[in-house]
Amino acid sequence: MSRIDDLISTMTLDEKIGQLIMISLGADTIVTGPKAAADPSVADVRAGRCGSVLNLVGRDRIHALQKLAIEETRLGIPLIFGLDVIHGYHTAFPVPLGETAAFRPDVWRESARIAAEEAADDGLHLTFAPMLDLARDPRWGRIIEGPGEDPHVGRMLARAKVEGFQSADLARRDAIAATAKHFVAYGACTAGRDYAAVDISERMLHEAYLPAFEAAVRAGTLAIMPAFIDIAGRPLSGDKGFLTDLVRTKWGWEGIYVSDYDAIGELIAHGVAADFAEAAALALKAGMDIDMQSRAYPEGLKPALERGLIAMDDIDAAVRRVLAAKERLGLFDDPYGRGSVAGGAARPLAARRAAARDAAVVSMVLAKNDGLLPLAKSGGPIALIGHASVKDDEALGSWFALGDMNPITGLADGIRAAFPDRDVIVERGCDLALDGPSPESDDADIARAVEAAKKAEVVLLAIGEPALLTGEAASRTRIRLTGRQEELARAVLATGKPVVLLLGCGRPLTETWLYDAVGAVLITWYLGSEAGAAIGDVVSGARSPSGRLPVSWPRHVGQIPIFYNERPSGRPWAPGEHFTTRWVDSPNTPLWPFGHGLSYTSFEISAPRAPATFRPGESLTVEVDVADVGDRDGATTVFLFLRDRVASTTRPIMELKRFETVDLAVGERRTLRLTLEPEDFFCLGPDMVARAEPGVFDLLVGESADREKLKGIAVTLLDEAAVA
Ligand code: BGC
Repeated sequence: MSRIDDLISTMTLDEKIGQLIMISLGADTIVTGPKAAADPSVADVRAGRCGSVLNLVGRDRIHALQKLAIEETRLGIPLIFGLDVIHGYHTAFPVPLGETAAFRPDVWRESARIAAEEAADDGLHLTFAPMLDLARDPRWGRIIEGPGEDPHVGRMLARAKVEGFQSADLARRDAIAATAKHFVAYGACTAGRDYAAVDISERMLHEAYLPAFEAAVRAGTLAIMPAFIDIAGRPLSGDKGFLTDLVRTKWGWEGIYVSDYDAIGELIAHGVAADFAEAAALALKAGMDIDMQSRAYPEGLKPALERGLIAMDDIDAAVRRVLAAKERLGLFDDPYGRGSVAGGAARPLAARRAAARDAAVVSMVLAKNDGLLPLAKSGGPIALIGHASVKDDEALGSWFALGDMNPITGLADGIRAAFPDRDVIVERGCDLALDGPSPESDDADIARAVEAAKKAEVVLLAIGEPALLTGEAASRTRIRLTGRQEELARAVLATGKPVVLLLGCGRPLTETWLYDAVGAVLITWYLGSEAGAAIGDVVSGARSPSGRLPVSWPRHVGQIPIFYNERPSGRPWAPGEHFTTRWVDSPNTPLWPFGHGLSYTSFEISAPRAPATFRPGESLTVEVDVADVGDRDGATTVFLFLRDRVASTTRPIMELKRFETVDLAVGERRTLRLTLEPEDFFCLGPDMVARAEPGVFDLLVGESADREKLKGIAVTLLDEAAVA
């Protein structure tokens, strides 16, 4: 008998249920949901009423609680300690949407690796990341946590993050388990309103929303967190079709489902369960293993068993999966391993900081530059104006669960260090004001900022969206500057001084007038521990910017949802034609397309080359030459899109299939070889079966999804019958 079977055969019902319960025990971390009715406590652990814990931080506290679980519970089963390690642990990396803009899987993997090393060093085993929710609606605050609008990007990010967190061996003392979340289509919530219902087609689910999760499963993610929402009447937390039939049976996944915070109990509010027993039964039978912080499993599983809604086998199956996860994490053999590595599991601090600085540099997106950037190393005073210049911790974004942070290199320090020979005058300008107008005291601050601008040769205007207005439960109908920041910007612009906008945001902000008015726009997201140093690197030209937008940037809120890979219309837009798909008061195009991002140098991308024909089942290698033809080193991202000209169902205007970010020295030219696999040509037929249909495909390459600038060739997938 295996260790797990052995254990299960000796466990009481209470002990079994305990393994399926995760409680929050951290007082000093962010609690992301409503408070439980009765505060869970250490007594629950001692009584075996809990198998995993979230939100507890600190090596000693984790060690002490693990010791209690091992030594003072009847069976001595180790606990799993989980936390939202989202974009770093002690060392903060750019927020996920920002880091996605790097379009560098190596950077994505490395930041997860470093976060895992730091978290494991504190005794943690599990993170609730990566968040893989495709989002095409920036009104949704959680767009900041994910990969943006494109399914292929989501897939690549999923793989890199799971590999980074988990390493090659999950039992390693510096590995933590990943949780792919929130399964699935949470980002499609109605009108971008968090937690609202989702109603999308099965086709869209398969084409756009599921691929990142499937990639996480292929990469071996230990855990998946079902989303809060319901899809077309099916709340995910209780849906067997999604959780078991699709993911476990079809995809062959063997990990554990961890519910979202209170999500099983919320099946009652969804209206698919009358009480905790029904909610617990629905979730358990769907395949949900662990109940995070709701009363459904603690209070509902026993009555559900008594009422015959579930069988003991259902409970045993979930317990078996949870114990198997503990085994994969190495917890039975080495329960105190994480947190006990001599010298620490994490690499030296300087190396972590250097990685954070590099990630921050490559995540910034230079959206506009009329030649203002980079600033000269010497010259007249620089006025650094705006809240981000004085509020360093804004750079941590909305979700940084830990108090125990390494210090942040703030913007003012970063700019001063980058320009030792120039005067830097720092002014706050105005308050951030989470909602409504800022206090009157801002009058004086705005006046001082204007004076600073007048004295300066150039202004760095560091304004944007308060970090606290992004993330969970932060949906907005106006995705614009808050408080009196617009007034500040107008006052500064009125001085006539050249203005560089350093835009801090977790989603596109529709301040089109401002982007028109300033000389340069550098999107700085929330860049983490080394934000200031990294911004200094780019503003001074020590590094050339190379980030690209992972989302189409709307001109107005009215264009939302806007994304590049929509399906064609029977009446495509045509200049001067009235009855075509368009708005009468706005162009169809976004302000900046998916993939947009400038550099201080310039590149030449050749037309793609590929064999004119290929056979079913064959891969196809596409060659593209890329050269740095400007006057400094830099990096560009080459995107390869595919268009299926004629198929049995309509295909997107174009779909991203590959991207590659290349660092080039001045004058350097390289040939990229991008190989497309047979599945890349698949289309979901009317019968929902994926297959490649013979015919002509356009291969389009370029530096963004701007269709005007893409270069393409056509290739033909031969008809099997004709080939034979
Ligand atoms: C969020 C999850 C998070 C969980 C635990 C929830 O409110 O939706 O993303 O992992 O809380 O903190």
